[in-house]
Amino acid sequence: MFTISILSRLLTIPYVLAKLTVEYFSIGTVFTNFQTNRSIRRIWTAGIMQHMIKVLTVPFIRDHASYTVSSLLDKLLSTVNGDGGLPRYGEFYTKRKCFLNSIDAADWGENPHSVDSLWLAHGGPSRSKNDPILIYIHGGCFAMQLQRNAVEVLANVYRVLSRDSHPNLSVLIVDYSLTTTGSKYPQQVNECGQIYDQLVREGNTNIAVMGDSAGGNLSLALLYYLQRVHPKGTVWPSAVVPISAWLDITAAQYSGSFRKNEALDVFSYRAVEYFGEAYVGTESDLDRPDLNISSLSSSYDWSKLPPVAKGNVLVVFGEHEVLRDENFRWCTNAGITKNHPENVIIEPLGYHISFFVSEGVAFGDLESWKEQSLTKQILSFLSKKL
Ligand SMILES: *[C@@H]1O[C@H](CO)[C@@H](O)[C@H](O)[C@H]1NC(C)=O
Ligand SMILES: *[C@@H]1O[C@H](CO)[C@@H](O)[C@H](O)[C@H]1NC(C)=O
Ligand SMILES: *[C@@H]1O[C@H](CO)[C@@H](O)[C@H](O)[C@H]1NC(C)=O
Ligand SMILES: *[C@@H]1O[C@H](CO)[C@@H](O)[C@H](O)[C@H]1NC(C)=O
Repeated sequence: MFTISILSRLLTIPYVLAKLTVEYFSIGTVFTNFQTNRSIRRIWTAGIMQHMIKVLTVPFIRDHASYTVSSLLDKLLSTVNGDGGLPRYGEFYTKRKCFLNSIDAADWGENPHSVDSLWLAHGGPSRSKNDPILIYIHGGCFAMQLQRNAVEVLANVYRVLSRDSHPNLSVLIVDYSLTTTGSKYPQQVNECGQIYDQLVREGNTNIAVMGDSAGGNLSLALLYYLQRVHPKGTVWPSAVVPISAWLDITAAQYSGSFRKNEALDVFSYRAVEYFGEAYVGTESDLDRPDLNISSLSSSYDWSKLPPVAKGNVLVVFGEHEVLRDENFRWCTNAGITKNHPENVIIEPLGYHISFFVSEGVAFGDLESWKEQSLTKQILSFLSKKL
């Protein structure tokens, strides 16, 4: 479904690219971050994202960009796993169940959905239950599917960690439900929780969670889920890495960093408002315990959750992000700023998910990739905590 505004944005992309190119070679562009400014291709990528995010709609994404994680991994097989270095690439771990009638669904209690999840790489038949599993929860405003750049970056995370420190690492990607199929909060949280619980039931003790943007919200919402569903305790994640997490989904105000960084970021207040409404609606049902984190994420006390208290949460965001203030507020409220200041990484002049956009692997080989600023810090945290 093409709207007039989407069409006019698409038609003006050449103009945006031309403008950025002229600026790049003269006065400089709005993307002043060192890693981005290293090449004009990075600037173009950011420019297109910034241009399009303001007009994208759920129906447009549904009609023109609907696919599954499985089909994307199939498509990328030869580019990402051409050398066969990712064992069991693209194999299913869990599969979505189709219910023939609502009675079957009712048996699932409050979690009537099961969900697909797939290995990007698996630690092998002789891996032990203590060998690490990294769960990745992708971003995309709860509407867009997993993107190619995330697959490439994760494949490299696997390559470096499995070579240098964790030979039996596994990486699992969750194909959680999207708003393009009408799925809403908290279904996505429950789906991630189900996969986590299943790994724990099978005896795994070393599970890390990484997510960006909407997936950053889900990574942290998963902690709330674990606390609520397992009040007597569970295996907590050994590392949690929310990157550019979108935290205050319904309670955002157009002020502070939302206003200040509007022109500098590739994400925008309009997207937060529009896609947030599609995901949560008004979030008025707060009497339900599963929805009780509240629309303002920092009003819940996260500080006592074991991964937070033990310094196993690494929060990554950029100085030039519209989400900067809410990330900083969350870190402060959760006590991370005070108790584990080394676990708050604010990328100088950085914008939304630049770990994937401007530090993407399309821009170099494995060795130069891993030396980039955010990448280096995230790898070092994971290799320490796993
Ligand atoms: C960005 O790159 C341009 C062109 O290479 C250069 O003139 C400028 O000094 C750079 N700016 C920053 C902040 O690095
Ligand atoms: C990885 O698995 C192998 C078996 O394939 C095992 O011998 C080895 O101890 C494991 N490595 C680590 C670091 O756990
Ligand atoms: C919601 O959370 C608050 C504390 O954060 C608690 O006092 C209250 O009982 C919870 N409500 C429900 C319905 O779980
Ligand atoms: C994630 O989004 C939900 C739904 O809007 C919200 O209630 C929650 O506070 C957010 N989670 C975090 C960790 O901020």
